[in-house]
Amino acid sequence: MSKKFFITTPIYYVNSVPHIGHAYTTIALDILDRYKRQKGLDVHFLTGTDEHGANIEKSACAQGVTPKEWTDNVSAQYKEMWKALNISYDDFIRTTDAKHEHVVQAIFEKLLKQGDIYKGSYSGNYCLSCEQYYDESEMLEGGLCPVHKRPLTEVHEETYFFKLSKYQDALLKFYADHPDFLSPKYRANEIINFVKGGLRDLSVTRTKVKWGVPVVSDPAHTVYVWFDALINYVSATGLGTLLCEDKAEHEEQLKKIGAQSFEDFWPANLHMVGKEIFRFHSVIWPAMLMALGLPLPTKVFAHGWWTVEGEKMSKTLGNVVNPVELADKYGVDPVRAFLFREVPFGQDGDFSMQSFKNRYNSDLANNIGNLLSRTLNMAAKNVGDLPAEAAAQSATHKRALEVEKAIDGHYDELAFDKVLENIYGFAGELNKLVDEKKPWELAKTDKEAAAAVLLELVCGLRFIAQWIAPFMPGIAQEMQRRLAPGKIEKYAPLFPRLEDK
Ligand code: ME8
Ligand code: MG
Repeated sequence: MSKKFFITTPIYYVNSVPHIGHAYTTIALDILDRYKRQKGLDVHFLTGTDEHGANIEKSACAQGVTPKEWTDNVSAQYKEMWKALNISYDDFIRTTDAKHEHVVQAIFEKLLKQGDIYKGSYSGNYCLSCEQYYDESEMLEGGLCPVHKRPLTEVHEETYFFKLSKYQDALLKFYADHPDFLSPKYRANEIINFVKGGLRDLSVTRTKVKWGVPVVSDPAHTVYVWFDALINYVSATGLGTLLCEDKAEHEEQLKKIGAQSFEDFWPANLHMVGKEIFRFHSVIWPAMLMALGLPLPTKVFAHGWWTVEGEKMSKTLGNVVNPVELADKYGVDPVRAFLFREVPFGQDGDFSMQSFKNRYNSDLANNIGNLLSRTLNMAAKNVGDLPAEAAAQSATHKRALEVEKAIDGHYDELAFDKVLENIYGFAGELNKLVDEKKPWELAKTDKEAAAAVLLELVCGLRFIAQWIAPFMPGIAQEMQRRLAPGKIEKYAPLFPRLEDK
């Protein structure tokens, strides 16, 4: 078996419900997945949910259910959302899966035995309501909790530490040797400077948090939620077959995801994350992998943050955008495409209904949709049947191959916005060709010349249908059906225009 192209989303916390921000990361990977499969790669796309920790315990408690009931419920909501958004993931991991917990425990014991984890104690200022420590820089004046504005309690706690400091130089060398690892490039310096500033060992267990993976050799401790969560990328893909006693459990998992060994997956080709968790993925996770003697991922890419109508999304403001509601109203594909055309991938962006409607009309209804319907209408009158090979030697065909090359280059940079810009730009060129050549007039004097122009348009549209497939799989399929060889039917518009109320 050959190495799979292995890509991951963060595993999302189940302490709140999924929204457009989570959808953004996951759709990005789905687009990449579909594109790479078009190119013939064997892609493995992993997503899932992060289900341990004090906050999740608290959310469950507030709803009067057990943590298990709570996590089952929210995890299922994520799965439903991915179904509604047409996400073709290959595997969904939950950190409460036994196979995951066993790998976390095995890794912990291995690192403890080899000295990369050691027992110590932690003193800090703890908020009993937040159940978390705050350092000096986060505390309010007078030693108050920044959230509850109440005095913090000084706590000394026994804890296990991961020797993060030991990997400082190795990390810096790795970044220098692998300039594509920290992506996009404009986010690299922040990480490099942070590591250069000195790494402190990381507390990786809690005695106060019950809802977590127990440490086997010291069950009064549970594993810190981030140490637990990062391990999902290797527990889901069979590291257990190398580390755990019960190999059968992990071999079964491998079979389920169509592979034979951990090496079919690892190292990951891409961890896609939001910018706020870039550090966890580009400092702590690589150091953990170094301690385990495993190769590091090829790339960690941090994208930006969405605000909504200029505001940070929050439950209190009541402005959380549910992508499924949008998709129900406007179709899932236009929503998927909008998110990646509106904002350069990597940067922050703002969601507004007005910009959604504007783009829907200009990119989809007036551009691609209009091109398809006017081409097919004219072709029905002047060509009749659509041949399989249309205009294969034409200028349009040549131009399409150039555009395709540009698109491939933009995918290499994960510049999804530029991919769409190229596709829409090409559709615009074809619309201009129609306006210039006026096939409907040409047909009156030279039917053959008119048919030749129309076949060029059909050729171009077939390229467009293939290019939009990763972003708009349903629409692409419908376009391909309408453009398939054979008699041309009468069709409803692909993208009915949205009118302003
Ligand atoms: O951080 N804009 O989970 P999480 C863009 N469990 N992306 C957004 C977003 C927004 N407004 N809001 C969320 C966690 N995201 C951990 C991860 S991984 C081992 C553990 C996306 O539920 C973005 O990808 O808080 C961000 O990194 C992620 O959701 C955070 O999800
Ligand atoms: Mg797949």
